[in-house]
Amino acid sequence: MNPSEAEIRLATLKDRDHVLSVHRIAFGDDEGEIIAGLVAEMLDDPTAEPIHSFVAEQGEEIIAHVLFTAVRIEPSDVSAQILAPLAVLPDHQRSGLGTKLVNESLVQLDSNDVELVFVLGYPDYYSRFGFAAAGAQGFEAPYLILPKNADAWMVKELKSGAIESNHGTVRCCAALDQPQYWQE
Ligand SMILES: CC(C)(COP(=O)(O)OP(=O)(O)OC[C@H]1O[C@@H](n2cnc3c(N)ncnc32)[C@H](O)[C@@H]1OP(=O)(O)O)[C@@H](O)C(=O)NCCC(=O)NCCS
Repeated sequence: MNPSEAEIRLATLKDRDHVLSVHRIAFGDDEGEIIAGLVAEMLDDPTAEPIHSFVAEQGEEIIAHVLFTAVRIEPSDVSAQILAPLAVLPDHQRSGLGTKLVNESLVQLDSNDVELVFVLGYPDYYSRFGFAAAGAQGFEAPYLILPKNADAWMVKELKSGAIESNHGTVRCCAALDQPQYWQE
């Protein structure tokens, strides 16, 4: 599949079941149900607002989804979000679709004046978008990240200077603020 054929757009209420299904399938038997449940909780979580939820659609089918929810960085009041989770249906993986979805979403966040974006994920994957180790730049995760996974806790600035002028502990929405989502 050519990722340029997929349209990236904001998710609507009508997309909800399809979005949950993408996560259930992409994360597979072990994690799929847990991640789909987490997404459902985050979508209903008032402390996650403002939420940015983007789908990739091909024809009538939703083939990928990424969710961004609000985080607070104590003690600052900078506009910041966390990317979690991201999923591409298995038949469409490794074709550049995840890259296109994240890149286009970040452009939208930038135009909505989001200054910082965090992620806990594969360093090799997220470095392509300009994410870099967050702990070393003064941003503590909500829960202790094991030293072996320290590189997975990452930040990217959308506004120049936002990393330098902020630091502190990142606090997520209630649904994501559970230790099991921060341990590997
Ligand atoms: C991870 C995921 C979102 C990537 O989406 P994608 O559309 O397949 O990614 P792209 O095509 O844009 O990029 C492909 C590259 O991503 C990297 N990549 C894919 N999965 C990876 C993984 N599990 N670990 C590290 N890098 C990975 C590889 O470098 C790959 O390049 P290659 O094909 O040359 O090996 C997708 O594989 C997925 O949904 N996986 C299951 C759910 C999941 O694990 N989500 C967590 C994201 S933190």
